[in-house]
Amino acid sequence: MRIGILNGGGDCPGLNAVIRAVVLSAELRHGDEVIGYLDGWKGVLEDESVSLDVPRCRDIMALGGTILGTSRTNPFTIEGGPERARANLAAQHIDALVAVGGEDTLGVAHRLGDHGVRAVGVPKTIDNDLSGTEVTFGFDTAVQIATDAIDRLRTTAESHHRVIVCEVMGRHVGWIATHAGIAGGAAEILVPEVPFDVDEVCERLQRRHRGGQFSSIVVISEGAVPVDGPDAESARLATSGAPLDQFGHARLGGIGAWLAQELEGRTGFEARVTILGHIQRGGTPSAFDRVLATRFGVAAVAAVHDGAFGMMVALQCGEIVRVPIADAVAQSKTVDLDLYRAVAGVFLG
Ligand code: F6P
Repeated sequence: MRIGILNGGGDCPGLNAVIRAVVLSAELRHGDEVIGYLDGWKGVLEDESVSLDVPRCRDIMALGGTILGTSRTNPFTIEGGPERARANLAAQHIDALVAVGGEDTLGVAHRLGDHGVRAVGVPKTIDNDLSGTEVTFGFDTAVQIATDAIDRLRTTAESHHRVIVCEVMGRHVGWIATHAGIAGGAAEILVPEVPFDVDEVCERLQRRHRGGQFSSIVVISEGAVPVDGPDAESARLATSGAPLDQFGHARLGGIGAWLAQELEGRTGFEARVTILGHIQRGGTPSAFDRVLATRFGVAAVAAVHDGAFGMMVALQCGEIVRVPIADAVAQSKTVDLDLYRAVAGVFLG
């Protein structure tokens, strides 16, 4: 077979491990040929690809980023895009496409199915918001990076008796904030799923101070928002303005700075902000992510050979399974509020 592979959306640690697993498994186990499309769906639309083989994939397992490049190109926002994608794949005699991505990239793969494109999905995103799989690769590495950062922020917060707000990624969901916040012993964890009340956060921080804890780490997802009212409006004005991408997503970032200012103004405690941003997406993947990505890559090639098009490989109860891409992208997998409230709730404040 001639298998195409692409990764789209934000990059994440483990992408090269998936590419390597797909190429090695396709070539060595099945005698397939693998073509790598450059920069996500853009490469398919512009017919830009490279041949991938075993020697090209040597030593890329631990490499961050992706050797194929990536973009947030959406063929469905481009005149004739879906037809061009299908025609270009047919002209290259691609029998099947392995699409590695989050809800946007896999959403395109799903919709292109109606245009005759035969695709298998592999779940990727540091946000961990794809349904159908317990975890996506990239998440573990991002949580570790955020936890390491929180550990470092804690010592300087303690020295200066400060509140430090640490803003982490998480556009619609607070998985990174919840896991890194628990692991890092944060005083507050604020996530998009649960709008926060600034005055209540202030009260809890003041209670900590009265109890003799003069420094606090507040972890906040970039997509967290205050409860409806003047604070929500003030935060919106302070953080909006960036252009939307081709999937209609706003570029987030800044809620942490807004919050730090509010906390300092309302409590009098000195506050600082650190926005971790793309540090969470860069660099070498954790061992967990390398293994998961490798398992996903091998399973994706097996799915291609079984003709399981329209399916995404996924992790459920430790096993690799297949779920319909349509189900995986239907709605975001939000933070488990039992974990958030029952586990984190015991330690916060
Ligand atoms: O891929 C997910 C993500 O990392 C989000 O957490 C974040 O909001 C977004 O990507 C940032 O995208 P970009 O790299 O395009 O600014």
